[in-house]
Amino acid sequence: MELNITPLVEMRAIEKHFGNIIALSGVSFSVMAGECHCLLGDNGAGKSTFIKTMSGVHAPSKGTMLVSGKEVVLNNPREAMNAGIATVFQDLAMIPLMSVTRNFFMGREPTRGWGPFKRCDVKHANAVTMDEMQRMGIRPREPDQAVGTLSGGERQCVAIARAVYFGAKVLILDEPTSALGVRQTANVLATIDRVRKLGVGVIFITHNVRHAMAVGNRFTVLNRGKTLGTAARGDITAEQLQDLMAGGQELATLEGSLGGTV
Ligand SMILES: Nc1ncnc2c1ncn2[C@@H]1O[C@H](COP(=O)(O)OP(=O)(O)OP(=O)(O)O)[C@@H](O)[C@H]1O
Ligand SMILES: [Mg+2]
Repeated sequence: MELNITPLVEMRAIEKHFGNIIALSGVSFSVMAGECHCLLGDNGAGKSTFIKTMSGVHAPSKGTMLVSGKEVVLNNPREAMNAGIATVFQDLAMIPLMSVTRNFFMGREPTRGWGPFKRCDVKHANAVTMDEMQRMGIRPREPDQAVGTLSGGERQCVAIARAVYFGAKVLILDEPTSALGVRQTANVLATIDRVRKLGVGVIFITHNVRHAMAVGNRFTVLNRGKTLGTAARGDITAEQLQDLMAGGQELATLEGSLGGTV
């Protein structure tokens, strides 16, 4: 079925060199609308470097990027945002002392009136923030609560809701669950699932196989800057994915036991 659909984003044979360090040596990856594609790999595998090439932070040394089937070159993160690619980095780019609403809008607050009478429409901004948060399944106590008083999981959800509200077609999440406890992890995973069902293409970076298995439709494992392969849900077990991450075994060698192409 997927063969007939153009990916929202497709990366072809991406290489990234930092001087003589080869961080990525030919990584191909795609994400469809309404799918969650998990990118797994051990520390230093190249996950962050890869998504930074996808979000306009790094220019790839080689390889091409396509957005909705058209080749693009992203010169900076702003161009990625304009192409509908939003990234939630681990530090989240939030200001702890500012309210949930202020963090949600970050200078893009709706205004009322015009000219010298132009004012930030606080009421409307608060209402939008509360609505969008509820749509993601969380309820901040109050919109003027400081972000610093939210839990790590709630903060992740604010960042995700914000990206979706501002029109993300592709949402890249770099280890959103790595610092969270069980309950908060469950909240963030549920949010990822909701966003995916809205038709957003989600790229979920993690090194936790169970977290990936909970929400992923496809799984790609990176190892030392190379893809070991991509498997669809149902074609690979959690154990096999875990072995792959740990041992760096080629997916192809699993084909026999999977009884099909990977
Ligand atoms: N700006 C840079 N300059 C030089 N080397 C870099 C740079 N960024 C990343 N690297 C190297 O590229 C490799 C991949 O790093 P990257 O951060 O992409 O890994 P990762 O899979 O995200 O790891 P982690 O799970 O620890 O976040 C590492 O060897 C790292 O040292
Ligand atoms: Mg990383």
